[in-house]
Amino acid sequence: MHPDLTERILQHLETADKVDTLDLATLFAEDHQKIVGSLKSIQAHGELVTAETVTHKSLGLTDEGRAVVEHGSHEALVYALVPPEGIAQAALMTAGGANAKVGFSKAMSHGWILVDKSVTPPLVRRKVDTITDVVRNQLQQVALGKGDQLPAKEVADFKKRKLLQETTTKSFVLARGPEFATTLTKLETDLTVEMLANGLWDQLKFKAYNFDALGAPPTRGHLHPLLKVRTEFRQIFLEMGFSEMPTNNYVESSFWNFDALYQPQQHPARDAHDTFFVNHPARSHKFPQDYLERVKKVHSVGGYGSKGYGYDWKLEEAQKNLLRTHTTAVSARMLYKLANQEGGFKAAKYFSIDKVFRNETLDATHLAEFHQVEGVIADVGLTLGDLIGTLYEFFRKLGITQLEFKPAYNPYTEPSMEIFCYHPGLAKWIEVGNSGVFRPEMLLPMGLPENVNVIAWGLSLERPTMIKYGINNIRDLVGPKVDLKMVEEGPICRLDHV
Ligand code: PHE
Repeated sequence: MHPDLTERILQHLETADKVDTLDLATLFAEDHQKIVGSLKSIQAHGELVTAETVTHKSLGLTDEGRAVVEHGSHEALVYALVPPEGIAQAALMTAGGANAKVGFSKAMSHGWILVDKSVTPPLVRRKVDTITDVVRNQLQQVALGKGDQLPAKEVADFKKRKLLQETTTKSFVLARGPEFATTLTKLETDLTVEMLANGLWDQLKFKAYNFDALGAPPTRGHLHPLLKVRTEFRQIFLEMGFSEMPTNNYVESSFWNFDALYQPQQHPARDAHDTFFVNHPARSHKFPQDYLERVKKVHSVGGYGSKGYGYDWKLEEAQKNLLRTHTTAVSARMLYKLANQEGGFKAAKYFSIDKVFRNETLDATHLAEFHQVEGVIADVGLTLGDLIGTLYEFFRKLGITQLEFKPAYNPYTEPSMEIFCYHPGLAKWIEVGNSGVFRPEMLLPMGLPENVNVIAWGLSLERPTMIKYGINNIRDLVGPKVDLKMVEEGPICRLDHV
């Protein structure tokens, strides 16, 4: 540990029969802890020295005691604050600060001051012209290392007043041991074949094993909380028989993000204030042509029993590339595929969990990108009841049993419902998602059979993650300010599967 210090200690013991480690610390002008550390390494080499533990009690000043030595006792300070003409008690207390009350009662009992009640309000006056600050003088003695000369009664009183404290120090009295030497031989850490073969093992000294030593934590990768929660959501969908949609395209055309979803081209969400448009490449050109014609028709003149929006639908608007604003763009692509697959329509359950982008004002709970969790079911004759029932089952698997639904509006669903759940921890209802039954204006142009309904819902991944991990600011979860320790030390995520 301190090679020269260990040898200095041993050399000292060559001539001295006994020595206290505290004295060694003074002698070598070293920290006592360092001497004790060296003693430990000497002891690891065998019985070179004997060490007997001794405890020393000593009297020392507390912080408050030191303040008294520096400025005077509380009672002397109060006395000094009393002017010849007297002072109201309340004013004296204010002027005296935190220790004025103790000082006042001590000064009263010493007979240094008095309360003159012949005037109103009563005044505190000096009773004697001079005082001797005995407490301060006595504590000064302690500061000079002459504490043992203080009478026991004073010591007890000062301890009670928390001006003095007893400190105990542990040290060791050292003497030469049976294996005494003035130098330390290096201890062997490995038993080798050679040592066994040449018999040296018998004479060598081996370092003792430290079975309490902690192993070095292995460096490894860590999953971000969002990924842990995503795994749980994925598990729930898989348990419910859903299959995952391919979401590996952050860049999407307006056509699939909006037009296919019967979202009119003048809809405010299509504004650059809400959506990030992409400049390179600015446009998409490959669309299923006949489907595109049907989308154009249903927007501009209607069809399938709908009047449409009655506006001039423009291809240029649908061609504009953007960062997808919701994963429902992926659901639209999948439903189109489902409608046009070989062998005709078959019921399907899809899910996705991936990133979406919105040109939002950033605040504690909003970033320009976040993750959406989306579930979609397509089957013959599905109703709003099926949607509600599925949502209860889905959320039950997340450990949430109390749900409420509020009518909402989405261009692509009718009816639409916001999903609220009761959060017992936060003791309130919070919005957790959005849902609905996809409109015929969206599904029929895709070619889905008329008796097929599609129910769907979406929620953010960030919100449940923040609740689960007790994170209040989204910037502590995502982005450059994230504390990597939070990621490293964050617990695994287990949602209470029911
Ligand atoms: N796309 C919706 C959103 O971004 C969520 C949603 C998905 C709503 C499916 C209804 C159906 O909030």
